[in-house]
Amino acid sequence: MSGRHSVPNKNYQQKIIRPQYQFMPHNAQPGLSQLLKAARSIRAYVAPYLRADNGFIVLMCLLLVGITVANTAMIWFVGSAVNHLTNSLFAQLTITLAWLAIIVVLNQAMQFAYFYLFQWVYLRFVARIRKATLLHIMHLSYPITDRFKKGDMMARITSDIDRLLTFILDVPLNFLSHILVLIFYISMLFWIDWKLAVIALCLSPVFYLSQHLLAPRKGRAARHYYQRNGELMSFEEQALGNLRGISSFTVENKVSEKHHALFDIARHWALKMRAIDILYDRVFSVLIYLAGVFIVYMGIEDIEAGRLVVGTLVSFIVYLGYLSVPVRGIAQIPIQLQGDVSAAQRVIELLEAQSGVIQDTAAAELKAKQGAITVDNLHFAYQGHEKVIFDGISENIEAGECVALVGPSGSGKSTLANLLLRFYDPQQGEIRLDGVNIKSVTLNSLRNNIAIVWQEPFFINDTIRENLRLAKADASEQQMIDACKASFAWDYIEKLEHGLDSLIGAQGLSLSVGQFQRLAIAQAFLRDAPILVLDEASSALDSQSEQMIVEALSKLRKNRTTLIIAHRYSSIRSADRVLYFNGDGTLTSGTHEELLKSHPEYQQAVEWQTGAAKEK
Ligand SMILES: Nc1ncnc2c1ncn2[C@@H]1O[C@H](COP(=O)(O)OP(=O)(O)OP(=O)(O)O)[C@@H](O)[C@H]1O
Ligand SMILES: [Mg+2]
Repeated sequence: MSGRHSVPNKNYQQKIIRPQYQFMPHNAQPGLSQLLKAARSIRAYVAPYLRADNGFIVLMCLLLVGITVANTAMIWFVGSAVNHLTNSLFAQLTITLAWLAIIVVLNQAMQFAYFYLFQWVYLRFVARIRKATLLHIMHLSYPITDRFKKGDMMARITSDIDRLLTFILDVPLNFLSHILVLIFYISMLFWIDWKLAVIALCLSPVFYLSQHLLAPRKGRAARHYYQRNGELMSFEEQALGNLRGISSFTVENKVSEKHHALFDIARHWALKMRAIDILYDRVFSVLIYLAGVFIVYMGIEDIEAGRLVVGTLVSFIVYLGYLSVPVRGIAQIPIQLQGDVSAAQRVIELLEAQSGVIQDTAAAELKAKQGAITVDNLHFAYQGHEKVIFDGISENIEAGECVALVGPSGSGKSTLANLLLRFYDPQQGEIRLDGVNIKSVTLNSLRNNIAIVWQEPFFINDTIRENLRLAKADASEQQMIDACKASFAWDYIEKLEHGLDSLIGAQGLSLSVGQFQRLAIAQAFLRDAPILVLDEASSALDSQSEQMIVEALSKLRKNRTTLIIAHRYSSIRSADRVLYFNGDGTLTSGTHEELLKSHPEYQQAVEWQTGAAKEK
């Protein structure tokens, strides 16, 4: 389960080698030692993304030492100032104040440098790991959405990644800072008055116990919260992606109710998590105040006996008061880890997700010339699903042939396209292109030999030009224009104020379904691959748009092997041959006329289609 094995594609290689990671079970109630072990493995796992900045981290550690020395000195000088003041030693007081001023400025400068470096290192780390995660997801592209919902993935690569801060900087550096403060301040306490110091330290187990009782509850609440929050984000993502559907079904209120219900659960756990935090803080503060009052009370005796001067008692109490910071900080580490181990594991789960499709190490570049497709004894079922999609189908599609894939919904037409592009691998059998098994070639070269026009084409929020370049990175101006003319997309692009440089997508023009499809066909022209797969849009288009698309596609198919997942009668008619998906894992092949005669279900399907066409 390491990044090293998950290279599905020769062009995609993890530059950063990560160690193995052993997942802690989701519902475990880990003890402190397990938590620390998990934290160490998480740190080791993500440390490679931090390595480039190790020098800065050493610098930050040195700054922490400097800051602690400065703080210790400041408190000491405040005590001396009080002593000089009470004894009216004004000359010494002036010198002490001058030192104090210098130390304050120095201290703040060091703190600025420390926090600036902290953010600098952290932001660079987040950028690297987010980049790695997205890259990994993209290379697993298709099947990963079977396992993770989009909203859930969003939560993992945004808020969950942020929580890795705990393991790489927050806990290690804060721990160092706390230990330094403990060493320096406790030394000062003993130096000032060792008896008072012993009394103060005897109180410390109380603080530890107070956190020990609350930590497991906070951890449980945090785990529930992050899980529920992921579900909530998935739901929101889905709703935002389906606004049109929601409005047309007028189910706004129903969706909102479901949203509210999900939110309620997430809110319940968020509140619980925060409430434990707040309660913990308050309990801690009460204990600290009580301890302070007790120490002052004990100190009065020493002052009366002349063993302690007022200013030094002030220093003592300030040192003691500030000791609450590291004690509280260290006590909170397990609580913080509890919540963040699960968030970190959710990120690692994504980084470790394996594609079912692995590129052979000896994979060659595919150079399909003719584009003949052979399907040989193909058996396929989606992993974890019982339904057999293909039960040993075999088929020869000759170079240049145009085959219509027809069949009831759910019979496996899109699945065949998925297998051809190797989004999945069959359990048995193989697919060959020009006699070469597609498993023996690189994924990139395989996919570069196939142009696909999806039902819902893929576009980015950029100019038309950049979208065309997705299909052919080095396309010239003339090639782009020719492709757009051939696909009839030029008809509308020509009229746009900025032509090819017009923005489309979220911040740009909103094109109609038909316009998008023509642009997708232009992309396919530019791709100029020997094999063409068209997943025809089943959505209705106006007749002029449809006519243009039909004509563009008939031009596009020339001299290519074409598979049309056909929803239109005209496409079925114009194909050389029909493959009918029977829906039971088998196919029936024949020309349109043959199937009309011999296959009652096909006949029925066509009747329905033509009937529907006539009604239109
Ligand atoms: N990623 C997946 N995981 C599990 N099952 C899937 C997945 N994708 C599709 N299926 C199932 O496999 C079967 C075949 O689906 P496919 O999308 O290939 O059908 P289709 O013939 O293209 O249907 P349509 O005409 O509706 O597009 C369906 O029962 C579908 O529910
Ligand atoms: Mg389909």
